[in-house]
Amino acid sequence: MTALPPFLAAALRQKTAHTPVWIMRQAGRYLPEYREVRSKVDFASLTHRPDLAAEVTLQPIRRFGLDAAIIFSDIMTPIEGMGVGLEYAPGPVIHNPIRTLTQVEAMRPLVPEQDVPYVMESLRLVRRELPAHVPLIGFCGAPFTLFCYLVGGKPSKEFSVPRAFVHGEPIVTARLLDRLADAMIAYLRAQAEAGAQALMIFESWGGLLGPADFRAVALPPMQRIVAGLQDIRARGVPLIYFANQGMANLEAVKDLPVDVVGLDWRVPLGPARKLLGPDKAVQGNLDPAVLFAPKDTLCRRIDDVLRDAGPAPGHIFNLGHGIWPETDPDAVARLVDHVHESSVR
Ligand code: CP3
Repeated sequence: MTALPPFLAAALRQKTAHTPVWIMRQAGRYLPEYREVRSKVDFASLTHRPDLAAEVTLQPIRRFGLDAAIIFSDIMTPIEGMGVGLEYAPGPVIHNPIRTLTQVEAMRPLVPEQDVPYVMESLRLVRRELPAHVPLIGFCGAPFTLFCYLVGGKPSKEFSVPRAFVHGEPIVTARLLDRLADAMIAYLRAQAEAGAQALMIFESWGGLLGPADFRAVALPPMQRIVAGLQDIRARGVPLIYFANQGMANLEAVKDLPVDVVGLDWRVPLGPARKLLGPDKAVQGNLDPAVLFAPKDTLCRRIDDVLRDAGPAPGHIFNLGHGIWPETDPDAVARLVDHVHESSVR
């Protein structure tokens, strides 16, 4: 029997020789080699060109001893595939925000190999190039998070328009969330078939909802997705749910049968693990700002996260949210090495 790569073993709560580490937004603007590629093509083209998407996915893997790669794409890529016009400025802007049942029904059901073939082609290209011990993560946005962009029409701090819409238009809301859940089931399934060895669902804006609304609005379409992927999970492809700003909603997240819960830096890892119970691994959660600290402080803060996660198997080290574009790549190298050295068992 061959041993599982550390990232997959930790996701499945098995013992690992060291704590695996990867970084949200590890392919991105903090890397000069990414900026070099981006200086020639815009972001949308980058996601539509498998050769370039594969190249930028692999850039951080060549530079650092990371334990996983995440395919370069965006949570809005499959939404384009459903016929919704949008652009990146740099966050997603929807040409005609979705506000009516007619608009919801006009969205095409997603047929991934037909509507976004370039994503699956990127996955196949990357898998061919990756070392065997570095698993490839496929991903999508969670329905409520996609809903925030689709209804709001543009990035926002408060997303007041979609949050008011939830209460003012409950029928359109429910239908849109269901349609997004079905599309994401097809999308994640296609990514697994194309070589993704773990699947991550980003609930970036779930923290805008209080616990009752989170349970009523964000959780049901997530339950639907997880139920729709049981066969894929049974084949050893772990599901990761990133519950950004999720502290208040952890009790509800506990009821979601995923393998790993991603936590932001505001959440204390020890209590969160207790609350989530022994059948879930956790991922996170160093504050991305700490990468700007002097070396000693950075190492100490990494050790704090490792200690808070505790000795039980089932911790994947990550930042609490995406790495900032201003970050020094040398700090990332230091972080990856220190996580490995400090967590040797
Ligand atoms: O390395 C990776 O993590 C893989 C690639 C990836 C991107 N977006 C590339 C990207 C992933 C996993 C995402 C997910 C994503 N996209 C999320 C969920 C994660 C999170 O951060 O909460 C969200 C909410 C989006 C929507 C989105 N796309 C935003 C808000 C932005 C602007 C971001 C910014 O930092 O300014 C984008 C554009 C985007 N997606 C960029 C990248 C690298 C910036 C692109 C550029 O101009 O080069």
